Amino acid sequence: MPDFGEPFIGDNAKETTRLPYTKEVREKTDHLYERVASVIPEIEWPAHAPYIAAINDLKNEMNAVILAHNYMTPEIFNCVGDFAGDSLQLAKEAAKTDADIIVQAGVHFMAETSKILCPEKTVLIPDLRAGCSLASSITGADVRLLKQKYPGAPVVTYVNTTADVKAETDICCTSSNAVEVVEYAAKEWGSDTVLFLPDQYLAKNVAAMTDVKIVTWAGACEVHERFTAEDIREIREGRPGVIVLAHPECPPGVLAEADFAGSTSGMSNYVKENQPDHVVLITECSMSDNVALENPNVNFVRPCNLCPHMKRITLPKILSSLQNREFEVTIPADIIEKARRPIERMIDLPLKRQSMYNHQHAPEVAAIEARV
Ligand code: 13P
Ligand code: SF4
Repeated sequence: MPDFGEPFIGDNAKETTRLPYTKEVREKTDHLYERVASVIPEIEWPAHAPYIAAINDLKNEMNAVILAHNYMTPEIFNCVGDFAGDSLQLAKEAAKTDADIIVQAGVHFMAETSKILCPEKTVLIPDLRAGCSLASSITGADVRLLKQKYPGAPVVTYVNTTADVKAETDICCTSSNAVEVVEYAAKEWGSDTVLFLPDQYLAKNVAAMTDVKIVTWAGACEVHERFTAEDIREIREGRPGVIVLAHPECPPGVLAEADFAGSTSGMSNYVKENQPDHVVLITECSMSDNVALENPNVNFVRPCNLCPHMKRITLPKILSSLQNREFEVTIPADIIEKARRPIERMIDLPLKRQSMYNHQHAPEVAAIEARV
């Protein structure tokens, strides 16, 4: 018989130790299964439930909270997450929490944001490799050089950036407030041009909604840049009448074919408010599961792309993170000091509504192609 090597058991050795599904675990978790029964088959529940019970017990003992991004799998999002939402909502929750420990069920830049807002708290990320193609596309040194090249232009950076980049930033934004933040920055800094970093597609989608001139960076989300306008046309052909919602990290051609574009929470709210018969969310895969659970009368069509970074966060790793206080996010004090200001400016901005991305015009946007 050929040797196929070790069986595939996941990318973390700790996941190989299965916890038992006992009577006590059942008592602690049966009510939680009801929340996710329509997206998690019953046969899979005994693998999740012992971790859920152990995590929820430890959270209470340790005064810890779990901040769960909308892209977390349903068993994390619905069964152990204390606060769930988009990047902006999670940053706001981090700023408010009384907990001693924050476990970020999301990616590393989100954990850094929590640490910057709560430097006295312990912030843990269950897998240090949970990165982001946007965050790794640009460094603080790149931003310093861009500022020399465009003196006077305020620097708006997406929260999907490292602390180092935020330290060089005037104001942060997320996809739920990007248009408003750009207009605020242009006015506040008295400039007709804004440096909007590092997502070239979000930059172009914002530029379509404002008269402010935008200079951007050639970064992209590796998940959303793979969607094409042709994908949307094919979906519509196969499912006439389907409502298409897209995340603004998608290329502008995708948004032009969509019925609505907004942040992860923007899409979720759209479904809640409009209850379409059939809907497709052009974004990360877990989003549809989580939104479907809240909207049982809506049918979800599911072409989607997985974010490999978000998917590194699993229940066994969250448990291990709490048990071993790993992996602690640390940032030098001087960077925290500088990076806090642009995040707080964003949080303090009185926003009347979520950013809308219904393409009004399509201006040329310069994306710096290479590191300066
Ligand atoms: P949101 O701010 O819409 O939650 O997006 C974060 C993200 O990483 C999307 O890819
Ligand atoms: Fe980054 Fe894209 Fe993954 Fe979001 S979906 S964390 S932007 S790589």
